[in-house]
Amino acid sequence: MRKFESMDGQMLIGGVKASEIVKKYGSPVYVTDEDAVRSNYRAVFNAFDRCMPTRINYACKANTNLAILRILQQEGSSIDAVSIGEVEACLRAGFTPDRILYTGVNVSTPELRAVASLNVPINIDSLSELRRLAMIDPHLPISFRVNPEVGAGHHEKVVTGARSTKFGIPRDRIVEAYAEAVQLGFRPMGLHCHIGAGVQVVEPFVKATEALVSIVQSLERDLGLHLDFVDIGGGIGIPYHPEDHAMDLDLLARSITSLIKEGTSVKRIVLEPGRYIIADTTVLLTTVVDIKETPDRTFAGVDAGFNTLVRPAFYGSFHHVAVANKFDLPGEATYDVVGPICESGDHLAKERRLPRLGEGDIICVYDAGAYGFSMASNYNMRPLPREVLVHKGTANLIREGQSMEDLLRDQRIPSRLMI
Ligand code: LLP
Repeated sequence: MRKFESMDGQMLIGGVKASEIVKKYGSPVYVTDEDAVRSNYRAVFNAFDRCMPTRINYACKANTNLAILRILQQEGSSIDAVSIGEVEACLRAGFTPDRILYTGVNVSTPELRAVASLNVPINIDSLSELRRLAMIDPHLPISFRVNPEVGAGHHEKVVTGARSTKFGIPRDRIVEAYAEAVQLGFRPMGLHCHIGAGVQVVEPFVKATEALVSIVQSLERDLGLHLDFVDIGGGIGIPYHPEDHAMDLDLLARSITSLIKEGTSVKRIVLEPGRYIIADTTVLLTTVVDIKETPDRTFAGVDAGFNTLVRPAFYGSFHHVAVANKFDLPGEATYDVVGPICESGDHLAKERRLPRLGEGDIICVYDAGAYGFSMASNYNMRPLPREVLVHKGTANLIREGQSMEDLLRDQRIPSRLMI
């Protein structure tokens, strides 16, 4: 968990007081520290690149804000995109098509055509997709996503590598898929898998790499096919809880790359971290609007709900919270931090010891950068919040909040209902 400084009891984010950000930009608001994005990118890139040539495809589903994409573009990152929308966003942020790898699942032919027309390499998820792409452009660079039959993750909903999931080409058909691709005129560049998200230990990554290595060996032996890269996917977890340990990146890098180097002729590893790069760079600031004492518990009602940050409600995820304007005070009372959404599942944090709260206090929800804004919704007709970037004491708006008009403008009432 990232450590934050304070000044006069006020939490500082990138050198700016959280309370000043709320005063200027309103509440709730997502706040990202630019230096943290850069240093996370460098940490993961360097850990792997020390072992073998490395390409990082930032999994932009975690956070597609254009300013954040631009920072990563400047750092030299490449992109894992899962939709034409993500591809368009990354092109707009300055990534060239060759720095994007499109990994869709259940990809429609119009979307396949759209991605191919932008010359973005495609990581193929099924034989159907391969055959449809062959009719569109058999010269496009491709790779394949295999189902490695190794799954892991912080919640069953995010385990993607297990045999029973919808993802990837089954292991027993993958060599056949490459043979067919070659016959169709493609020159496959790589092999990919993704085991799941929020994986805190090295072992499942090692197992998945073993599966990839054995497939690459078959491709080299049986088809004489030599790939440019092995892509181990994303999923590196982060310590959301103060007592969690961070992943040992050096151990992870050494364990995986040694298998690839020793077992294959592949010269480059690709990784697709989303959460690791962006989660702890961003906090959600939300204001206490109501305190309710009940016989069982005390609720701190805030202006952000699961429309703003869905992870606690959806996965039961833990996010650390602090009181940004009482940052140095000790915990005095136990609160459930809950939002304005009309469902009992609408909570951000449960049973937390916090300084005594009153209306107007600012709650800081940690580690909100990955899948925070990107999974936010308009449920209950609530507008999406602003996003702010802080950098060495200055703050910039990087996304305007929505207005009521934004929420209403696309709807139509048929004229016959207006009579
Ligand atoms: N590559 C592929 C093919 C993926 O499907 C994903 C995530 C990633 C990379 C990046 O995984 P990461 O490094 O961020 O863990 N909404 C969930 C996470 C869903 C992840 C989906 N796929 C959450 O809030 O935890």
